[in-house]
Amino acid sequence: MKFFVDTADVGEIKELAESGLIDGVTTNPSLVAKSGRDFKTIITEICALTDGPVSAEVAALDADGMITEGRALAEIAENVAVKVPLTWEGLRACKTLTDGGTMVNVTLCFSANQALMAAKAGATFVSPFIGRLDDMGLDGMELIEEIRTIYDNYLDLNTEILAASIRTVGHVKQSALAGADVATVPPGVIKALVKHPLTDKGLEAFMADWKKTGQKIV
Ligand code: E4P
Repeated sequence: MKFFVDTADVGEIKELAESGLIDGVTTNPSLVAKSGRDFKTIITEICALTDGPVSAEVAALDADGMITEGRALAEIAENVAVKVPLTWEGLRACKTLTDGGTMVNVTLCFSANQALMAAKAGATFVSPFIGRLDDMGLDGMELIEEIRTIYDNYLDLNTEILAASIRTVGHVKQSALAGADVATVPPGVIKALVKHPLTDKGLEAFMADWKKTGQKIV
């Protein structure tokens, strides 16, 4: 399973990229607004920090506008994945951009039929938003399971399932169990994945006992 980091904070991405555990990055207009920085500068900096796909979202709502913006974003670096919304216009743009060799992440996916259409449009990634479905009292994980089943039914559908809107460590585990190809995870949740109180307790006891031996390894 690949891990993308879901942020437009270049400092956080740098720190995580240095661990070698991150396979790509996703941004969205809200994350860019939160950073308060210039969008293309952020994408340029992120693309220099990772070889993996870096999602950069278009702002146009019509297919022609999305294609123009998508091509401009794709010129920033070869690892840019143009992000388009899951609308009819977005799918038209997706088809043109992927036919031209550009990676496309189709975002704001909330149903299995939408994911089927994204795959038909040749999407590189489809992003089902788990947390936002959970927020409505629905089961976001059920959507990942449905998409996995549908994509596995048809060998010609090569779109990767990118579990998005992940809010908890439980979401990451459930996405992995459901067979998502990628999870895009906020930095804080990525760090929380390695935490367990029994690990901390066990390490403390081992270190106390090691001290008693008076030995050194190097
Ligand atoms: C995915 O690409 C989105 O940037 C992100 O996961 C949205 O998460 P949110 O629903 O927590 O805003």
